[in-house]
Amino acid sequence: MFSAEVYTQRRKKLMQRVENGLIVFFGNKESSMNYSANTYPFRQDSNFLYYFGHDVPDLAAVLDIQSGDEILYGDDLGVEDIIWMGYQEKVNEKAARIGIRMVRSMDKLAGDICKAMAKNRKIHFLPPYREDRKAQLSYYLEVDYAKAKNPYSEELIKAIVAQRSVKDEAETLEIESTLTSVTRPMYLSAMKMAKPDLFEYEISGMIEGLALQQGYSMAYPTICSVNGEILHNHFHGNKMKNGNLLIVDAGAESRMHYATDITRTIPVGGKFSARQKEIYNLVLKAETECISRIHPLIPYKDIHMHASSIIAEGLRDLGLMKGSVTDIVSVGAHALFFPHGIGHMMGLDVHDMEDLGEHFVGYGDEFTRSEQFGLASLRMARRLEPGFVVTVEPGIYFIPPLIEKWEAEKQFTEFINYTKVRSYLDFGGIRIEDDVLVTENGYRVLGDPIPKTLNEVEQVCTI
Ligand code: GLY
Ligand code: MN
Repeated sequence: MFSAEVYTQRRKKLMQRVENGLIVFFGNKESSMNYSANTYPFRQDSNFLYYFGHDVPDLAAVLDIQSGDEILYGDDLGVEDIIWMGYQEKVNEKAARIGIRMVRSMDKLAGDICKAMAKNRKIHFLPPYREDRKAQLSYYLEVDYAKAKNPYSEELIKAIVAQRSVKDEAETLEIESTLTSVTRPMYLSAMKMAKPDLFEYEISGMIEGLALQQGYSMAYPTICSVNGEILHNHFHGNKMKNGNLLIVDAGAESRMHYATDITRTIPVGGKFSARQKEIYNLVLKAETECISRIHPLIPYKDIHMHASSIIAEGLRDLGLMKGSVTDIVSVGAHALFFPHGIGHMMGLDVHDMEDLGEHFVGYGDEFTRSEQFGLASLRMARRLEPGFVVTVEPGIYFIPPLIEKWEAEKQFTEFINYTKVRSYLDFGGIRIEDDVLVTENGYRVLGDPIPKTLNEVEQVCTI
């Protein structure tokens, strides 16, 4: 955890940004897997972590904007629980560690909210992403939360997004040290290990084991697949063959739950083919050029559009596309090969604050989300600011069902050379991703460099 002062200052800033009322934060509960007592690994709510730090279930907190009162809700364990769970810090000890003086038992929370509602005070909640929380909110608010129209507080969301978007030095250090000491070794080991006749799960298991061995966890389910054209492919059961491209998109989560998010594409057997090299270098060019454009105030959408142009131009030079790059990109024909966005904000969540709504985090009032295929998947369009941490992750994929559909529908035949594209149906995909801090004057790629050029990757693969 950070010091009490860090959490106190974060809450103080938040309370200055919200005009009036009560802010209610819920920590997460345990979540059952196959019967009540057999639970998924516990993951605390990231907003709760940010303002209250404690990484244990069954806590809540209220901030009263008018009085300035800060209350931590929770229950001390009785001896019955301690027999099974060991001694747990008392709620007042927990409160002291984060600079809070008032504690109340959890059964007081509903009544406290009720009393404030009876006085017509505004109650600020965040949007729930777990069903049990929706049910709980329905009970507290005396409405069917799932059916209520935007019962959450937009004012609170905007205040939190403004605050959490800008990472301080200690937060950046959490991300950077995790990248260097845990995530980077995962990739070096994966490159050395990616040999024919191994199963994908041997690589993904090794990667996750490296994190667990050091007391870290994973920031999201590992993608480790020779079918990298399936963007979020969590199946790891394929036997790898010589010449396959293995996409590994994985990242450790720091002990304080800051995410890392890296992708490398590895040639199984250690050598890229000539055809793979052409596409790889194109993705690499898009990634490095996009990173070099990062600086304060540039709209992230411009970075996405730049990646789109590089990909369109390169695919045209290879004979897979045709026509003017400007026209290709403006109609979105390149999205057949690059159907996702260039990246997203990172922090306590790998897609930072996605629970608060991508519109608030990535678009705000200045930008409107496009409905065009591909561009519609861009999670963030807004202008960059110093302290933002973002991913840059272009990719090129040959997705057989999508290619077949577009060809049958005669989509963009003036821009896509379907005859040539068909000869790439067995290609798979290539993605390259790094994590980048926006600085006062430009950018800094976080963490020690992870092999990325064709030569660097091949060299590690053949050690
Ligand atoms: N790391 C997976 C993603 O960014 O969606
Ligand atoms: Mn990512």
